[in-house]
Amino acid sequence: MTHNRRQFLTTVAASAFCLSAPAFVRRGAWASGASPALHLPVIDATASGAFEIAATAGETEFVTGATSPTLGFNRPYLGPVIRVRPGSEVAASVVNRLDVPISVHWHGLLVSGELDGGPHQQIAPGAAWRPRLPIDQSPATLWYHTHIHGETAPRVYAGLAGVLIVDDGNDADRGLPSTFGVDDLVLLLQDKRFDASGAAVYRPGDADLMHGFLGEAVVVNGRIGPRFAVPRGLVRLRLVNGANARNFDLSFSDGRPFALVATDQGLLSKPLPLSRIRLTPGERIELLVDFGSGGEATLVSAPHAETGGTMAMGGMMHDMLPLPETFTAPFPVAAFAVDPSAPVAVRTAPTSLDVPDVPPPSPVATRRFVLNDMGAMMGGMGGGMGHGGHGAASTMAFGINGQPFDMSRLDAEAALGTAERWFVSGEMMGHPFHIHGARFRVLSENGGSPRAENAGWKDTVFVEGEAELLVRFDHPATDANPLMLHCHILEHEDLGMMGQFTVS
Ligand code: C2O
Ligand code: CU
Ligand code: CU
Repeated sequence: MTHNRRQFLTTVAASAFCLSAPAFVRRGAWASGASPALHLPVIDATASGAFEIAATAGETEFVTGATSPTLGFNRPYLGPVIRVRPGSEVAASVVNRLDVPISVHWHGLLVSGELDGGPHQQIAPGAAWRPRLPIDQSPATLWYHTHIHGETAPRVYAGLAGVLIVDDGNDADRGLPSTFGVDDLVLLLQDKRFDASGAAVYRPGDADLMHGFLGEAVVVNGRIGPRFAVPRGLVRLRLVNGANARNFDLSFSDGRPFALVATDQGLLSKPLPLSRIRLTPGERIELLVDFGSGGEATLVSAPHAETGGTMAMGGMMHDMLPLPETFTAPFPVAAFAVDPSAPVAVRTAPTSLDVPDVPPPSPVATRRFVLNDMGAMMGGMGGGMGHGGHGAASTMAFGINGQPFDMSRLDAEAALGTAERWFVSGEMMGHPFHIHGARFRVLSENGGSPRAENAGWKDTVFVEGEAELLVRFDHPATDANPLMLHCHILEHEDLGMMGQFTVS
């Protein structure tokens, strides 16, 4: 990276939050006009019971004056926030206007295999998929993205992702901020790498495939350094990690505390006070942040390498397969400034959240899943060791329990209505482990109690060492339309760190 290039990127990170910095003034504004709107558009399907999204190609100015080719649903980059109501059946219409196959997987939605939108529900160019989705779960922030095997990483990076909110209409009664775009904000996080012209590029090298592709600038709803206006009260932030591989470790620049009210599968029984929280690829969190003092705050993240997002063996491996030059210091994600004219609906956090829950049945089986990263690493180092790696990116293979993903092989069969104990571990790296169509509790992490933020129902968990999960299977999946289990570092997933299971 040239000196100018580095300076350019430093300016990207700094300028959006420091409007008076001379460098910012010299370079001109990081655009409002041509870059995407600050808030994702909303499709409210809670009353209509129907929605349509169409995958289209477009162009986006992440950096002023530089156009990037992007993909989105109903817009050039990313898709809308879709709100659905529990207890209803939603008629979804997904149209593919691209010249490549896509699928739309509802990440976190508890539906049966044929409705899941995984690699088996491919939508050909020009075709449409119209599943009827029964919404059978508690309020939660979910998301959706394409999921074609071997092509998920580049297409999600390009923007084929959006947010799906299960909303039962009772959040105001629960004492939670619930006015979209005012005190209930959705922030879909990705990161991008830019070429010399400032256009976003996806050209992973071996080290990128090994670690997962990290961008050099964070984009929130498509914006670098966004600044959100908030009311002078309590604000709910729904954060979705839609990045290919980046872990965030989030806190506020002024150290202010916040309350975690929901994780992947919905509301916790009561708010959990925290001052920092990790968010790994595929995970969602909902935070309540108090802006009652009227002051500004910036949400910042610790650098990826300090969030468990690098190899457990650290030093030596890191030197042999260095991470691309990326954030090495805490970096800003989004700024918040109080708008005194914005209506304040909630001033203090509720002490408990009313969430209906059914205790999980006791486990009927125990399974182990080892996420194989060692063979890929040996291949990536050119040693030809491990599982047949030959040093070329094209042969770099990841797997689970010694086998790379195979669309025609079943890796597990679970019984409908039961629960199982799953021990999941990596070899050398941490991996965000995700299960489709099922939810789980984290019973233990490395033999100890789980991190406080992993106490609720989850569908994705960052496995550093070993995690013990209690997985419940409440939705069927046949061998023609099985459900997926995989690492949500999208490069790992595409290169084989995925398996599939039936539920019957
Ligand atoms: Cu976010 Cu298999 O998915
Ligand atoms: Cu999923
Ligand atoms: Cu992984």
